[in-house]
Amino acid sequence: LLVPALSSPAEATDPPAAGDLDPASVPQFQQAMPVPGTLRPTAVSGTTDYYAMTMKEVDAEILPGRKTLVRTFDGSFPGPVIKAVSGRRVVVRQTNRLTVPASVHLHGAHVPQSSDGSPMDLVATGGGTKTYTYPNSQPHANLWFHDHTHHQESETVYRGLTGLYLLTDATEQRLNLPSGSYDVPISLRDARFDADGQLAYSMGDVKRTVLLANGKAWPYFEVAARKYRFRLFNTSNMRFFVLKLSDSSPFQLIGSDGGLLEKPLEVDSVALSPGERADIVVDFSRYAAGTTLVLDNTRPLRPDDPVEQLGKVLQFRVGGPAADTSTVPATLRTLPALPAATVDRSIELSMDETGATQDAYINGRPYDMDRVDTEVEYGATEIWTVHNASTRMPHNFHIHLVQFRVLERGGRPVTSGLESGLKDTVPLQPGETVKIQATFTGYEGTYVYHCHMFDHAAMGMMANFRVRRTRGNAG
Ligand code: C2O
Ligand code: CU
Repeated sequence: LLVPALSSPAEATDPPAAGDLDPASVPQFQQAMPVPGTLRPTAVSGTTDYYAMTMKEVDAEILPGRKTLVRTFDGSFPGPVIKAVSGRRVVVRQTNRLTVPASVHLHGAHVPQSSDGSPMDLVATGGGTKTYTYPNSQPHANLWFHDHTHHQESETVYRGLTGLYLLTDATEQRLNLPSGSYDVPISLRDARFDADGQLAYSMGDVKRTVLLANGKAWPYFEVAARKYRFRLFNTSNMRFFVLKLSDSSPFQLIGSDGGLLEKPLEVDSVALSPGERADIVVDFSRYAAGTTLVLDNTRPLRPDDPVEQLGKVLQFRVGGPAADTSTVPATLRTLPALPAATVDRSIELSMDETGATQDAYINGRPYDMDRVDTEVEYGATEIWTVHNASTRMPHNFHIHLVQFRVLERGGRPVTSGLESGLKDTVPLQPGETVKIQATFTGYEGTYVYHCHMFDHAAMGMMANFRVRRTRGNAG
């Protein structure tokens, strides 16, 4: 199968293939967007919340009036939300009732290797279990969990195996941001369906043309005329979003992958590559009751793209006013100071762009789970210069274990936008270079870094790094 050679952004869409459901036949703004339910602990101790989830296939109503078979955590598409607090442990027992093995990775989390959900650490099919322990020894952040089985993560995530993990702490809770039913996580992705309404998957395929928010195709969401906090997650395999409101009005960007920014930024759009998160506050009090507006996706599509719907994601229907005592303060948090880096590395992302093979590489080599590509001294602060060597294909770059800072993009210092905060995933347009800085403390062990366009990770754009004490330092 080919990596399609496209003249403009490579994740854009082609017309539906024969046998596909025509996205134009899927009505927009007909289904209400649900808010994913919060998972209840099975037990609670003084230090720990215990959860249990079963990975299984169920039918979900993604398209109005139709049933689609999906892979889920605990029967919900997308999966349930875990709410965690820094300093309080979460233990999740996962049971695998899928027809395939799975590995549950908690994206963005600072966890021991044994609970990282690495590509080589599988929960067997047929009722296999594994207990993951999340220490939550990191500040608040919008995390998510998903399959990471090598060569299969792309299909299994596509078929639904994702869930959200909202980690809070005293810094965040001290603020008076919109909360309760005014704090809404939204999991965004695309999907392609066959004529029977089943998910159509093939590696390297970018014709995923129906947009889903919290598991529904092009839903609407009723809001009161007041401020809302939306935590946006791009859980797509391949699709990039550039999101804006249809009236082009500004909103506040308050957080990124690793929690809140230092101060809110007024923006009129926000870009999310696969795996990235944006935390935003939209004030609907400026709209009259009965107003509708749309969250648009302005990521350029192909000029000949026939699917006008792709420019729209979700409709907001504004109702009457509601009391609102929430505020977005001028200062949200202080980020930890950047220590001086002692190691510089270069990382090059590339792939076979001829389409002759399905191979993708980091520093010229496809992923080998038995090879350590990068040795990191425990406690070290490192600068990684990451370059996208593809000429047409965007990529992005995700590191496990750490939250990092983006120092430069294209040789220029990064001072604003999502990248002014803590990140675990950064986008790279064709030819682009970013400089990021991370400090590797907390755990020794072997972890991965990879492109978070899962088809590319499955094709080999992934590598192992090992954090070890070799100098007898105490860390
Ligand atoms: Cu969200 Cu290694 O991944
Ligand atoms: Cu990629």
